[in-house]
Amino acid sequence: MNNRDLIKKLRDNRELSRDEYKQLLISMTKEDEEFLYKNAREVREEYYGKDVYVRGLIEFTNYCRRDCLYCGIRASNKECDRYRLSREQILECAETGYELGFRTFVMQGGEDMKFSDEEMCMIISDLKERYPDCAITLSIGERERTSYEKYFAAGADRFLLRHESITPEHYSRLHSESQKIETRVRCLKDLKEIGYQVGCGIMIGSPFQTVDHLISDLLFMKEFKPHMIGMGPFIPHAQTPFRDRPAGKLEDTLHMLGIVRLMLPYVLLPATTALGTIVPTGRELGLLAGANVVMPNLSPTGVRAKYTLYDGKICTGDEAAECVACLKRRIESTGYRLAVARGDCAERC
Ligand code: 5AD
Ligand code: FES
Repeated sequence: MNNRDLIKKLRDNRELSRDEYKQLLISMTKEDEEFLYKNAREVREEYYGKDVYVRGLIEFTNYCRRDCLYCGIRASNKECDRYRLSREQILECAETGYELGFRTFVMQGGEDMKFSDEEMCMIISDLKERYPDCAITLSIGERERTSYEKYFAAGADRFLLRHESITPEHYSRLHSESQKIETRVRCLKDLKEIGYQVGCGIMIGSPFQTVDHLISDLLFMKEFKPHMIGMGPFIPHAQTPFRDRPAGKLEDTLHMLGIVRLMLPYVLLPATTALGTIVPTGRELGLLAGANVVMPNLSPTGVRAKYTLYDGKICTGDEAAECVACLKRRIESTGYRLAVARGDCAERC
C-alpha cells in the first residue's frame, strides 16, 4: 500500500499495524506529509473546530529528587540555580493568567517533596476557590496513589506525566537506576482510575530512540487512551550527560503529531515550547499538523530562566502578557483562534 493509502486507512480505522506505522515513519515524502497534515487538520476541526486552547504554565519549583539524564533540573546538576515559588506568588501568577483569559493552570515542577501533600492541597484548593471556572492541571511527577487521591479531592482536574518511552531498555537509558517504566505506567493508571484527565507523552529524537521505540509508544498510547499527549523534540542541555546529543527533528515531531491526531482524534495535543525552540515557527507548524493546545509561561520573569529543562528555551524574558499577544498572533497566522475556555477533552475516555 502506498503512504497516501496508509494515511487514509489510519484516518478511517484509527490504527495501523506495526509494519504499516514503520513504513509511514521511514518513507514519508513531502507530498505524503502534506496529505497527512491536511487529514490531521480535518479531523482536529471535526472535534475542536478552529479553537486552540491555552494552558497557563506555572513553573513553581525547579528542585527535583530525580535524575533524568536529559533534564536540566536533574538532581545531579549542581550548577542549577534552584527556586521555589511561595503560595502567594503562585496565586499572583494565576491572577495574571485569569485576566489574560486563561481557564487552565498547569502547576509544573520537579519532584520537590518540600511541597508536601498538605501544602499541595492548600494551593490547589485556594486556586479552585478563587477560580472555580478554571481547570487545574498538575505536572509534578511520581507520587503515591494516596497523594494523587488527596490532590484530586482538593480540586485538581488533570495530570500530565509523560511516559518518556514504553520500551524498558530505552526508558532505563534515559533515566537513573531508581526510575522504572513500570512505576510510571502504574502512576498513569492510578491517575486515570482516580478520575483525572491524564496526559502521557514522549520526546521525539531522545538519545537511543529508534523507530521501533516510537511505534511501541504509539501502540501504548492507543491502548492507554490518554486525554492529552505531550510530544516535543528532545533538546540537549549543556549541564547534562546528553549535552552532545543532537536535538530531535522538526519533521519527525510533526509526523508523530499528525499520526497521533488520526489515531486518537479527540486527544488534546500541544504544540510545545520545545518545538518553538528548535524552529522559530515550530508551534505554528505543530498546529497545522494536528496540534490544538499551546502552553505559554505564567511564571514570574525572575525565575523563568532557572526552569531550563533544555538549552535555548524561548520566552524566558517575556512577561506573560507579551507571550499571550505573541501567541495570539502566531495562532491567528495559522487560521485558528485562541479560545478563552477550559478546553476539556472532546470525548470521555
Ligand atoms: N528536551 C526536551 N524536552 C525535555 N523534557 C525534559 N528535558 C527535556 C529536554 N532536554 C520534557 C520531558 C518531561 C517534560 C516536562 O519536559 O519529556 O516530561
Ligand atoms: Fe526530574 Fe527531569 S530531572 S523531571
